[in-house]
Amino acid sequence: MGILVVVAGALFALLLPPAAYASRSYPTGEEADQKLHAIINNETNSIRGLIDHVSPHHDKASDANIIYFAYHGVATAPNGYYGFIGTMDVYGFPLSQGQGSAAAVWISDEGDGARSGLKNIMIGWDVLPDLYGDSKTHFYTKWTNDGYQSTGCFNTKCNGFVPEKGAAIAPGDVIDRVSSPKGAKRNLNLKIIKNGTSGDWLVHTGLDRDPQLIGRFPRSLFTGGFADKAVGVLFGGVAAAPLTNPAPMGSGYLPTDVKSAASISNIQLIDQDGRAWPVTGDLPKVETNPSAYAVSPIVNGQFFYGGHQQPPVVP
Ligand SMILES: *[C@@H]1O[C@H](CO)[C@@H](O)[C@H](O)[C@H]1NC(C)=O
Ligand SMILES: *[C@@H]1O[C@H](CO)[C@@H](O)[C@H](O)[C@H]1NC(C)=O
Repeated sequence: MGILVVVAGALFALLLPPAAYASRSYPTGEEADQKLHAIINNETNSIRGLIDHVSPHHDKASDANIIYFAYHGVATAPNGYYGFIGTMDVYGFPLSQGQGSAAAVWISDEGDGARSGLKNIMIGWDVLPDLYGDSKTHFYTKWTNDGYQSTGCFNTKCNGFVPEKGAAIAPGDVIDRVSSPKGAKRNLNLKIIKNGTSGDWLVHTGLDRDPQLIGRFPRSLFTGGFADKAVGVLFGGVAAAPLTNPAPMGSGYLPTDVKSAASISNIQLIDQDGRAWPVTGDLPKVETNPSAYAVSPIVNGQFFYGGHQQPPVVP
C-alpha cells in the first residue's frame, strides 16, 4: 500500500493548477489510502456491475462465472474528475455463451459502498455472446444511478444514453475490423467530458480517427454528487467465464509481451475547468488474479494489460 499512497499523492499534485497546488495541503497518506480502498478495491460493487454485464438475465449465473479485473484507477483529486481521454486498441475472439471480455473506462462514484450507492458510466469495447447473440466485438456503453438495482442498462436497452443525430457509431454497434496482436491496430479513441454548463456527460469516440460527439448521458439521470462530478476513474480490462473455460482479456497476451498485449494510451484526466491533464506517472492498480491477467505500470500515459491467451485468438 505504501507505493499506492506515493503515486496517489503524485496524481493529486498533477490535478491541481499550480496556484491551488501551492495553497492546498495534501491528503494524508491514510486518507488517500482509505479512498483508494473504498473506490478501487471494493470489488463487491465493481463485480456487481459486471455480473449484470456478463449475464444480463439472471444474477445466479455469477456463481458459475468468475470475473477477473486488471485495471488502473485514481480516486484522489479533491475536486473530483470531469472526464477521461484515452485510446484503446480493439481486439476480437470467438467466445461461447457464458464467456465475456471487455475493455472499459469506468467513471464512477461508489457512494458509501452500499450497492445502491454505486453510480457510474462505462464505455469501451466488449465481446459478450450472452448479450449480443454473437461473438463479434461491439462498442458499448453502460450506466447506473443505483448499482443496477432499478436504473441503468447496456447501450440503448433503456432510456438513458442519448445518441447524437448522425453519429458515426452508436452503443452496441459492431466494430467490424479489429487489431491483430502482432500487426495492425484498430484504435478506439475516447473522450468523455462533463459539459460544465449543462452537466451532461458528453461521449466522443472515433475509430482510427479523432473522437467526435456521439451522444450523452444527461445530468438528469444521476443524483447526489455524481450529477456534478466523478469520484474515481478506472480503466482496463475485464474477463468473465466459467472456471473450466477461461476467456482472453485485452488481446489475450500478458502485458509482459508488449509487442502483442493490448494497451490503453494517451491517458488524460479532465479537471473541473475542463482542462485535460496527461497522466505522466504510474497509478494504483487492481489485478484480481495477477498470474492470469495483469497490467503494466503506466509510462508516458500508456500501459499494457490482459492475459490468459486462449486459442484461437484472432491471428
Ligand atoms: C464494499 O461494498 C460492500 C457492499 O456494499 C460494503 O459492505 C463494504 O463495506 C465495502 N467495502 C469497502 C472497503 O468500502
Ligand atoms: C453544453 O451545455 C450548454 C447549456 O445547456 C449548451 O448550450 C451547449 O450546447 C452544450 N454543449 C454541448 C457540446 O452539448
